Amino acid sequence: MAETYGANFEASDVLRMFPTFVWKAQVVPSVRQEIEDDVLAILHEMRRDAGAPAPGRGWQSAKDLHHLDEFRGLVACIHDAAKSILDFLKTGDGAFELTGLWANMNPEGAAHPIHSHPNNFLSGVYYLRTFEGADTVNFHDPRPQTGIIRPRVTELTAENTDQVVVKVSDGTLLMFPSWLPHSVDASGSDETRISVSFNVMPSAYTETMSKPLW
Ligand SMILES: [Fe+2]
Repeated sequence: MAETYGANFEASDVLRMFPTFVWKAQVVPSVRQEIEDDVLAILHEMRRDAGAPAPGRGWQSAKDLHHLDEFRGLVACIHDAAKSILDFLKTGDGAFELTGLWANMNPEGAAHPIHSHPNNFLSGVYYLRTFEGADTVNFHDPRPQTGIIRPRVTELTAENTDQVVVKVSDGTLLMFPSWLPHSVDASGSDETRISVSFNVMPSAYTETMSKPLW
């Protein structure tokens, strides 16, 4: 730590606390292929009569696709990923479960407004089909009070931004705390972006995990 008589703080003098995590990984090609074969086929089947969504109008499936056989590979993949996150967060080794899993199709012009996923612990998205102009997701500063005074900045940095844009590609698995607000910009591609979203919650939350620490 640098010695100082005033407020000449160096970068090494900054304490960073209460970090916000977004986990991002690329699923290995063999697993990715299996997921694609199964999931794209069943989604095609679901949309057989409806056809491709109209420009500007996103489509979401029912929220319980995790019970379907065709999603078994993806569910196993999410399960492994969630386990590693819960280990990282030292939350113990209690059981957890997917409480919802649904498909999203975003044609050209379709967006998703800012939202979070209440009553869950972890949420995530697996990207099956992304395209240039339809390959990002926005995460927003979860501290609304920081927006009350927002001076003009000379340079946008990780320290002063209120939004982080994460680039994704086919096979990207993203996971994040369910309370973290996020949004999707209107697709700028004439191809339909396809992703699968999900929620994860500890199974025995009310019995064990929500007990007060003191
Ligand atoms: Fe979401």
